[in-house]
Amino acid sequence: MGHRVGVIVGSASEASLNRRLAEGLAPLAEEAGLTFVDIPIAHLPFYGTQFDKDFPEVGWEFKRAIEDVDGLLIVTPEYNRSIPGVLKNAIDWATRPGGASSLPGVPTAVIGATKGAVSTAVAQAHLKSILTSQGVPLVGVPEAYIRVGDGFFADDGSIASEGTREFLAGFLDALRELIDRWA
Ligand SMILES: Cc1cc2nc3c(=O)[nH]c(=O)nc-3n(C[C@H](O)[C@H](O)[C@H](O)COP(=O)(O)O)c2cc1C
Repeated sequence: MGHRVGVIVGSASEASLNRRLAEGLAPLAEEAGLTFVDIPIAHLPFYGTQFDKDFPEVGWEFKRAIEDVDGLLIVTPEYNRSIPGVLKNAIDWATRPGGASSLPGVPTAVIGATKGAVSTAVAQAHLKSILTSQGVPLVGVPEAYIRVGDGFFADDGSIASEGTREFLAGFLDALRELIDRWA
């Protein structure tokens, strides 16, 4: 049976490159036995400890979305050599209220796209450090630092290069194998 994978895009941009990457990955994921389920984050308020005592429905809804899937794929840009605040805020929501984190044991893969040379490597290193501290099992290899140049996406939004599609299929296989191991 296929697995359901929650996709968190770490960008609040209206025309997000990383969302386009997530959309381009979706058909490859189906071939790898994974069905993507979008988990939005940009609507979450900034976390504050007042929510520990009175946890709002918007937070429970986000946590339920994580708890309803078999694994996560986080597709994130790099902002100022780290992860965007919107993504850190979402992780903070997922870990609260204290003692009721939704993250431990959720198999997760991290990928990021940029037009720049660093290719989200620093952001991904920070993200993996945060997730490891929260008990999240991660895909170690292959790492996926995606540099998006002209022609990366075909007109229909698919990933144009066969070689890149093959690499990304291997990346998604690694996520499926991690989910299988933790099932
Ligand atoms: C506040 C801010 C900081 C950024 N810092 C970096 C950075 O450190 N490294 C990098 O490669 N790109 C950086 N960028 C460029 C982003 O990678 C680029 O805007 C990318 O398209 C963002 O992904 P998105 O389109 O999915 O939102 C930054 C962009 C913004 C808005």
